[in-house]
This record gives sequence, C-alpha cells and structure tokens, in this order.
Amino acid sequence: GLAVAGCGGLTGETAGETLASALPLPRPFTVPLPVPALARPTRPGHYEVVQRAARMEIIPGTTTEVWGFDGTFPGPTFDLRRGGRTTVRVRNELPVPTSTHLHGGVTPPDSDGYPTDLVVPAGQGFGPPPGGHTRHGTGADLSSWTFHSGARDYLYPLDQRAATLWYHDHRMDFTAPQVWRGLAGFLIVRDDEDDALPLPKGERDIPLMICDRSFEEDGSFRYPSLDPSLRVTPGVEDAYMEGVEGDVILVNGAPWPFLEVSATRHRLRLLNASNARRYRLELSPGGRFTQVGSDAGLLTAPVTHSAVVIAPAERFDLVVDFSDYPVGSEVTLLNTLGSGPTRNVMRFLVTRRAVDGSAIPKRLSRPEPADRSSAVTTRTFDFRATRRGPGALWTINGQPFRPGRPLARPRLGTAEIWRFTSDFHHPVHVHLAHFQVLSRNGRPPAATDAGWKDTVDVRPYEVVEVLVRFEGHRGRYMTHCHNLEHEDMAMMADFEVV
Ligand code: C2O
Ligand code: CU
Repeated sequence: GLAVAGCGGLTGETAGETLASALPLPRPFTVPLPVPALARPTRPGHYEVVQRAARMEIIPGTTTEVWGFDGTFPGPTFDLRRGGRTTVRVRNELPVPTSTHLHGGVTPPDSDGYPTDLVVPAGQGFGPPPGGHTRHGTGADLSSWTFHSGARDYLYPLDQRAATLWYHDHRMDFTAPQVWRGLAGFLIVRDDEDDALPLPKGERDIPLMICDRSFEEDGSFRYPSLDPSLRVTPGVEDAYMEGVEGDVILVNGAPWPFLEVSATRHRLRLLNASNARRYRLELSPGGRFTQVGSDAGLLTAPVTHSAVVIAPAERFDLVVDFSDYPVGSEVTLLNTLGSGPTRNVMRFLVTRRAVDGSAIPKRLSRPEPADRSSAVTTRTFDFRATRRGPGALWTINGQPFRPGRPLARPRLGTAEIWRFTSDFHHPVHVHLAHFQVLSRNGRPPAATDAGWKDTVDVRPYEVVEVLVRFEGHRGRYMTHCHNLEHEDMAMMADFEVV
C-alpha cells in the first residue's frame, strides 16, 4: 500500500523530497543551452513523429537512455499557425503503450490523448499490461479502453489564440515514469495578433523547458519503480505520495546550461515540465521579468514580477531586458524554493551589445475579462488524499479516477465557476477549456495568476475559484492534478461537454 508521508511535509513550499543522484553532479553553467529542433511537415499540415528509445549525453561524459519523440528529449518543437488544421501521426516504437496529449490544446475529444486511448507497440497484444490499472483498481472495465496498433493520427485544429503549448505522454497509470524518461516537447501556436507586436523575435524568442531528474551511477535516469515485475525502490511509496523530484535541474534537456545573449530584450517561454517540483524563479544579481503571456496566450497588458512561482505544467511568457546589465555580466536564473544544486536553473552570459528593435507595448491583446456573472453554475472539485497511511490514494471529490464516469456535464458555449479545494500542492489542469483565476481563499488572485490559463497552482488548504469557458468541442475531457505521480495515483476525473 501507499503510505502518506508525515504532515510536516505537506504544507511546505516544495511538494516532494529530492531523490539523490548516484553519480557526481556536473558543474553548473558549463553546458550550452540546447534549443530543440523544429518538427518538419511530411506534406503541408501533416507531421509524423516516432516515439523511440535513444541515447543522449545529458550528463557530460556519460549517456542516458531516453524515450523521446523522434528519440530526442525534449521532442521536436512544432511551430504552427492558429487555424492551421494539423495532423500529427505518432508512431510508437517503444516497448510500452502511449497516449499523447496536447496540453492547452483545443482538441477534438478523440485526439485529446485520453489515458486509456492508447497506441500499443505493433505486434503487442491489446490490453492493460500487468502492474497497470490493477495497481489502483480503477479502469478495470476494459470496455472503455481503445487501442491503436503501432501508430495513430491526432488532429489539432488549432482554432485558438497564439500560445505556448506542450505535448506529453498521458498513459493510464504510467504518465509519470514515461514523461520522466523524456516524452515531452513544445507546440507553439502563432497568430497575426502576436506577430504584429514588437516583442523579441527569432533567436531572441526562446522556449525553455525546465524539469528535474536524478541519475543512476551508469547515467540512466533514476526513478522509483513501483512495478513489482522489475524492482521496487525502497521508499517508493512516500516518493510517489508526494511526487518525485530530482536533484539535477535540466533546461531543454541540459543540466544547468548557459546561454550567451546580447544586451537586448529576450522573450523566454518558460514551461515547468517537472513531474512534481515547483520553482520560484528569480534573477541574480537582481532583475525583473515582464510577463506578456500565460498558459493560454497573451495577457491584456504586461505585468512585472521580481519572482515567478511556476507549478508543474504552467507556462510563463516572460521578457527579460539584458540591457539592464553591463556587458560581461553573468545573470543567473535561480530557483529560490530549491536548496543546494536545485537552487540553480541556468545562466545567461551578457556578451555583447546589439541593436534592439523590440519593445513591450502597454496593450498586448484585446481584453477578455473574466466576468463572474456570466457563470451558469458553480461546482467544487476537492483534491485530497483518501486517508493517511497504507492504501491511501489521491482523489477528486473522494473518488479515484473512473474512466467514462464524468463528474460534470458543462454545456458547450457556457462558462462555469469551478472551485478547487485541496489538502496539498496540487497543480490543477483542465483539458480543452481555458480559465481565469477569480480568487484565492476569497481574496483577489496573485499577480502571477493573470490571464487565460489551463493549469493553476493550488496550494495546501487553499480554495481557488476559476471561471472556465467551454468552447470548441463537445465530448469527454478530464481535469486532474498535474503532479504526475498524483495523476498516476488516480487524481483525475472526467467531465463531458454536452
Ligand atoms: Cu499536461 Cu492531462 O495533462
Ligand atoms: Cu496533486
């Protein structure tokens, strides 16, 4: 059974306990920042990616087996236009089933990457593998599972505003270990409104995928295994209950990398792709972030922050003006929730002056106010553990995930207030529908809650109200905790747009 760790750990600023690597950690700021390659269409509007194992040099001097889209971690970046109906064929050459979710995508339900809508490796039987759903006793009714052999097409209409989306594995019960092994990448939606702004562009517009990992002595990823057919890591129950955190911080797959920049504005599209770790990002020696976008696209107007807390799956679209620093400066992106090695994230080296034609306009996007009075109903989703001690599960409204049993049936074209209550750090994500934060514990939202979002950082014993709009598609979707270990421990629920 799964034991809940002592209550002391439940209210702190970080969710889990850090899993120590068994190899010597590399020196920070010695590896250049990689930028993931762009995905190339096979013909206009059509892409194909292969999920496969590959070896990568993540820690200098050793190699790590990753499971990546096109064998890379992060996977290729899809750079696409709003309204450009795009088909992505995903071919699964891994030894395990997969499901690919476009996080933040306004996607038809059968392309949403539902956990039991699986691509099974060609030649493998259709059915849940041993050690799968049986772990939690959920989803045992196979009639709701669907299987595709070897490959399938996902359709992304992209009828949505420009935004930084990402795609990742979503397999029932195994999302956490499969994302840890590398199954994640960016999908950037662009549109005319965003293009017309004088924000930094080209190589000054950089996606940054931040995540933590730990490593075994031989360079392989260290991850606590719950699979009795392999080996069960000591302490795995506690690690799973809180969420797994590593002691190496990777940005775009490189440990504590550095990037040389000119003394100009840069647009940094930050994604926290960690399983469980939250970060409080700050610049050293001092500095500020100008936020221009959130999960679901541009803000109405820029917001300035000296620190940004980013929970798993959240995105922050930030501009940093490196002309605030003298040429020759080292500007370190710190995680001030971390300690020791997890306090560093990456470093910018301001190496030269350059012409900067960019600007941050006072008005970024047409205002789309969240009007509380437009809500047709209010629903509560309570994220908490069933109980303390052996056999505990993470649940929503007291229920572990039951595929095909929706907790809500919102109507297409309406807005609702959803109240998220919680007993721990739960980054709550809603598929399909975007929302704005209305309040935290009855008080106005934080400055970092601005804009349309798909994931919100719900902290222990908080009540967070959001206004959710259901647009685009009818059908089965889900809301869940994006602490991936919690997700795998059944902290998910269906809703059906009718
Ligand atoms: Cu990024 Cu259902 O998840
Ligand atoms: Cu959670």
